[in-house]
Amino acid sequence: MKQNKYRVKIDEEKIKTGNNLEEDVGFELLKREITESTGFNCEQYKEAHFKRRVNVRVRATSSDNYQEYLRLLKKNPIERERLINALTINVSEFFRNPETFDVIEKEVIPFLIKSRSDSLIKSIRIWSAGCATGEEVYSLAILLHRVLGKDFDKYRIIIIGTDIDTLSLEKARKGIYLENVLKNVDASTKETYFVKQSETYQISNQLRGIVRFKRQDMISESCTDRFDLIICRNVMIYFKKEIQEQLQVNFHKALNKGGFFVIGKAETLLGNASNRFKPYNARERLYIKED
Ligand SMILES: C[S@@+](CC[C@H](N)C(=O)[O-])C[C@H]1O[C@@H](n2cnc3c(N)ncnc32)[C@H](O)[C@@H]1O
Repeated sequence: MKQNKYRVKIDEEKIKTGNNLEEDVGFELLKREITESTGFNCEQYKEAHFKRRVNVRVRATSSDNYQEYLRLLKKNPIERERLINALTINVSEFFRNPETFDVIEKEVIPFLIKSRSDSLIKSIRIWSAGCATGEEVYSLAILLHRVLGKDFDKYRIIIIGTDIDTLSLEKARKGIYLENVLKNVDASTKETYFVKQSETYQISNQLRGIVRFKRQDMISESCTDRFDLIICRNVMIYFKKEIQEQLQVNFHKALNKGGFFVIGKAETLLGNASNRFKPYNARERLYIKED
């Protein structure tokens, strides 16, 4: 079986030579091709994570080594898409880490609503960075609708979801989901906010009306908009530490004063960024921009 042969070949080489020059050269060439043909900047990601994800595709295509996989990649556009898919890990679900969404529903959204009570134009702007297939975006839309109730239409709400992966964004725009990503959604929420279509659930038109999805590489493309809540979870963890810190500083800039920032449960604020935000709920990785 080729799959095992590949693994054995690399390991044997390691044992024989103590290093893996051929493998390293192949890997460097492959990285260059990925960046040139897809615009995906491999250098920003943690090396071990990146290699593990590439290896998934090397094995799946039964390539014997990185050079062989590189040749395949050059002539096969479908494989390029599959590789991007493997590199980006776009798993998500509705109300992932429900305790975090609980705080957003009971504290953050009411705070944002209250602070707009005297404004003529009651605008709430939210950014989900690294939104994958949209579950996080629609979870927030559901909470806003639930909290605002009959006042929902009085507010100018926009939730922008951005991601580097165009296939994920296409799915996000359709807003059609299988039961397995809805495990944290109770029956009455399903009934209110989704339209059931045999095996799938589509998010209601009213909620789709307040969301926008856009392709954006959060590392290389800057953001000029301002937001009241920015949520970026389970994305930065794959980046090198210095990139994470720079991104967190950028998110700070993109927030309005008094705005909230949410990161993933396994992520932390780093260096300069940790001095700029004030913890709001450290357990749920929720921070606030004070000035
Ligand atoms: C694991 S998903 C997280 C989805 C959602 N935030 C959640 O926590 O459920 C990570 C997403 O980050 C996206 N991503 C990775 N690198 C990115 C980049 N440089 N710019 C924008 N999105 C990126 C991936 O495409 C993927 O959809």
